[in-house]
Amino acid sequence: MKIAIGADHGGFLLKDIIGQFLTGKGYEVIDLGAYSAEPSDYPDFARSVAEALLKGKAERGILVCGSGVGASVAANKFPGIRAAVCHDTFSAHQGVEDDDMNILCLGERVIGPELAKEVVGKFLAAEFSSAERHVRRLKKVQSIEKDFMKT
Ligand code: RB5
Repeated sequence: MKIAIGADHGGFLLKDIIGQFLTGKGYEVIDLGAYSAEPSDYPDFARSVAEALLKGKAERGILVCGSGVGASVAANKFPGIRAAVCHDTFSAHQGVEDDDMNILCLGERVIGPELAKEVVGKFLAAEFSSAERHVRRLKKVQSIEKDFMKT
């Protein structure tokens, strides 16, 4: 599985830890920056990771900023992206199974590296359930995108 990762200065260190963790697990990691801890803007990296998914270059994305919130707000502006901040393992897998979440957002100033690795592992191991009720709800989300977002 190809994983696109990105972070601003607030998530730069955790993004690198996660990248190394995933590479060690055999995932193909596409690191879209930031490549230094110089001040940067989370929407730039949300854009890069979202575009990687939408263009089929990666199947899942991970964004890290200080809280995870800015990254998720920006990433959810892209039709087809379902991003959420998850700092617990339950949300990380249920968000995929029920809601087809495709980008996990983390806050380096909130979560430690060991729990972050466990959260990432649950996110990547999970698959959308395709249960009728979840497909129905996902279609309603897509209908909102269609009605309110320009593509
Ligand atoms: C940057 O200082 C910080 O605002 C950003 O990393 C993120 O936490 C925003 O949600």
